[in-house]
Amino acid sequence: MLTLQIQVRISSISPLIMFLLKAWRTTAFGVYGYLNFTKPAFLEHSKNFKSEDMQTQLDGKNCVVTGANSGIGYAAAEGLASRGATVYMVCRSKERGEAALSKICSATGNQNVHLEVCDLSSIKEIKSFMSKFSSKDQPIHALVNNAGLLENNRVTTSEGCDLSSQSSSVSFTSQFELNFAVNVLGTYALTELMLPLLEKAAPDARVITVTSGGMYTSQLTEDLQVTYIRKLDVYLLKTSDLWYFIKFLMQFSGSNFNGVEQYARNKRIQVALTEKWAERYKNKGVGFYSMHPGWAETPGVAKSLPSFNEKLSEKLRTSEQGADTIIWLALQPQNKLASGALYFDRAEAPKHLPFAATKGSHSLIDGVIDRLNTLSGVSA
Ligand SMILES: NC(=O)c1ccc[n+]([C@@H]2O[C@H](COP(=O)([O-])OP(=O)(O)OC[C@H]3O[C@@H](n4cnc5c(N)ncnc54)[C@H](OP(=O)(O)O)[C@@H]3O)[C@@H](O)[C@H]2O)c1
Repeated sequence: MLTLQIQVRISSISPLIMFLLKAWRTTAFGVYGYLNFTKPAFLEHSKNFKSEDMQTQLDGKNCVVTGANSGIGYAAAEGLASRGATVYMVCRSKERGEAALSKICSATGNQNVHLEVCDLSSIKEIKSFMSKFSSKDQPIHALVNNAGLLENNRVTTSEGCDLSSQSSSVSFTSQFELNFAVNVLGTYALTELMLPLLEKAAPDARVITVTSGGMYTSQLTEDLQVTYIRKLDVYLLKTSDLWYFIKFLMQFSGSNFNGVEQYARNKRIQVALTEKWAERYKNKGVGFYSMHPGWAETPGVAKSLPSFNEKLSEKLRTSEQGADTIIWLALQPQNKLASGALYFDRAEAPKHLPFAATKGSHSLIDGVIDRLNTLSGVSA
């Protein structure tokens, strides 16, 4: 009886705690972001920047920048090209990529800028791109994982994994949710496949992954694609095709899908992945860094967060200000940087906000990586 009462109380407190935690994370992120992520905050932080940090030349170094035709990725590619690097712009659209390439070549005078067309939401395309790219057998000094998106609706790609239950006669394929496919799965697969080329540039190679301050609002979860199938369902799945079918419809109808939350979860994974890569590959001479750009005015923000973009437009950073720490990370000697760390405005930044209870969740990263290996067919 006593046990029952306690259980009832705990189970009613738990949603309340979750609600309060969520409210705290959102409020803390809003206040912290307003004080630190805006253009005025960048100008304030830049008073501590050292101009000599940005004077290194990159002639003879090869850099890959994903999503380089727009916003922060474009500014990063231009910044690297202006310092003499050979830059490979990985873009999904040939037209948009060519237009950006020609602008960068004429702005920097650097003709060693190349376009590679690859849709990073497709594992098939990533593998085919990497198989051709690797055949050049050249060292890669910096991989900038910048491509990303915030899709507000539950959109799926044409690829996926088999979700059929062994004891069910019904067979289904789960297509990949788009935010996850690009921000997490594509980023993971590209980085793992690029590793042999990065090792060729060791000990001067680095992976810079562009996360978002939005990740402060989220803990790491194993529910990578916002599914509704939980343990109980797995049990029921084994017993009833009808139940399986109902859950299938719920899962893929997109109801209750929140793109902003999914994006934050994706960006949290990038931070935890960076930590794990640093640990796993610490003897390979490759540094792994995540960074976030603050709040910058870009085509991506205008499309995905129109009211945020409109309300804060005066206060948003330029794409160049957003890309500043990417370029800084590409230029610094590795011994000045901490592999696995998160950077913001040319300094190491906290990965968790106070009292947000997000830190412990990073212990789930091994399970997440196992899943990414299975889903991508790329094994670390
Ligand atoms: N702007 C901000 O305030 C802010 C804040 C935090 C984090 N970030 C992060 O910064 C990065 C750049 O964002 P942005 O604001 O510069 O947005 P953006 O202007 O939309 O740039 C995103 C880039 O990623 C590319 N991309 C999207 N899906 C792709 C795919 N399937 N395959 C290949 N490329 C793809 C886009 O290509 P298309 O042009 O073809 O769509 C574009 O080049 C993202 O990772 C974003 O999460 C931005």
